[in-house]
Amino acid sequence: MSTFVVIGGAGRTGRRICERLTGGGHRVVVASRSSTPQLDLTGKPDPAIFAGADGVVIVVEPPRDRDAAEAAMHGGVAAVAEIAAREDIPVVLVSQIYLTRAAEHPELRGVIEARARGEQALRESGAQYTIVRPSWLHDLPSAGVRIEQGDTGEGRIGRDAVADAVVAALFDPSASGKTFELYDDEESTSPDWPSVFAALHAD
Ligand SMILES: NC(=O)c1ccc[n+]([C@@H]2O[C@H](COP(=O)([O-])OP(=O)(O)OC[C@H]3O[C@@H](n4cnc5c(N)ncnc54)[C@H](OP(=O)(O)O)[C@@H]3O)[C@@H](O)[C@H]2O)c1
Repeated sequence: MSTFVVIGGAGRTGRRICERLTGGGHRVVVASRSSTPQLDLTGKPDPAIFAGADGVVIVVEPPRDRDAAEAAMHGGVAAVAEIAAREDIPVVLVSQIYLTRAAEHPELRGVIEARARGEQALRESGAQYTIVRPSWLHDLPSAGVRIEQGDTGEGRIGRDAVADAVVAALFDPSASGKTFELYDDEESTSPDWPSVFAALHAD
């Protein structure tokens, strides 16, 4: 049995990640502003929350306010990454598409730019990491899933498919150091994650 800290684990995608982990016999610590232990990503995370963890997932909805988004998605992600690097704990960060093309969504610019800095801080932290970038989320099953790199696509993806990708990445060292996007695609099959991760380009 392994132990995983899921920051944002009571959210709609986070809950699905936790269900998969507990269903696999693992222990899950949900950390967020309204959980126990309490963790507000805009503040300084308590390193004790991560003691003995075998993996960390960050699946937090960013605040829309630019300064708060910067505090959570850059400062908070960087702080968790620093702890993870020190304690040798792999991190899976749920991010989003449009990170390299904020101009396409000016209304989200503050969030996107903060997230981009957070992604980069994680890459540079020395922690083992995977960055999963969902397209627009929905709650229906995904008929098939297309995996891309390079952040050029448009589309939607089911939260279940995102949870599958996150959990697969937690257990597969070949996902480490890689960033990818997820889209619904009826013409694609259900991913064979080990083959997908092995074929992805490293960052
Ligand atoms: N909506 C979309 O179309 C879309 C597209 C691409 C990517 N995403 C991203 O995918 C992820 C999952 O989205 P979702 O819709 O499933 O999320 P969600 O249901 O909105 O849940 C988000 C979770 O974040 C936690 N949270 C918020 N602020 C926090 C903070 N400062 N510190 C710690 N925890 C905090 C919340 O818990 P508390 O309230 O208890 O803190 C909540 O459990 C998010 O990162 C989201 O931005 C969304």
